[in-house]
Amino acid sequence: MTERLYFRQWLSGRDYAEGDEVAKEMRNFAYAIGDAVTGEAVLVDPAHAPGELLAFLAADGMRLVGIIPTHYHADHIGGAFYGGHVAGIVEVLAGAVVPVHVQTQEAPLIEHAVGVGVPPVVIHESGDVVMVGEIAITLLHTPGHTPGSQCLVLDDRLLTGDTLFLKGCGFTGRPECDGHELYRSLHERLACLPDSLEVFAGHKYALERSATLGDVRATNEAFEALGADEWVRRFGP
Ligand SMILES: [Fe+2]
Repeated sequence: MTERLYFRQWLSGRDYAEGDEVAKEMRNFAYAIGDAVTGEAVLVDPAHAPGELLAFLAADGMRLVGIIPTHYHADHIGGAFYGGHVAGIVEVLAGAVVPVHVQTQEAPLIEHAVGVGVPPVVIHESGDVVMVGEIAITLLHTPGHTPGSQCLVLDDRLLTGDTLFLKGCGFTGRPECDGHELYRSLHERLACLPDSLEVFAGHKYALERSATLGDVRATNEAFEALGADEWVRRFGP
């Protein structure tokens, strides 16, 4: 599959949305995953300057066929953000109505945040596979940072959103967060995945832009062998 995989990673405020202070400060990664043979692609977390991301796709000869948000936060899907507005999936959908693939638990949060519901939202359960041409993307429900956070597995890659960064993990300080669920997501739900996967996170909180899951497990304190309660005390709000 690798030879036909189309994969792009863009850093906000640097690779796109240049000059946007919010985008620069947030250091979000947006991604495109597609099939280079069929020319189909999905955008993952297209926030800040989605028009630029669509232009990147067009320049590469790719056609948008879907959106996969890792979770509902405005720096990933757009919406109201600390008194301002971040552009995101609403602006993408204004140009082309495509499916928005989310976990069951995230759907109401996305509808509340940006007013996008079913359809174009398509509700998924953990383990569902989204096909983009011949490229299979498996959606894993990894709650904790938000109730319906999801990680994406494709080929030899793992996209983790705000569930896991190369250093640290997503915060659990909001009412809908659940530290024990995040502990289970990191230490149990992702435990079956091989060390060889390359991890691509939702923010650039490390010098590197990606690392193997084996390296992240070995160096990230969020994988320290603590009991759940101690882990939540350490990493909770
Ligand atoms: Fe987040």
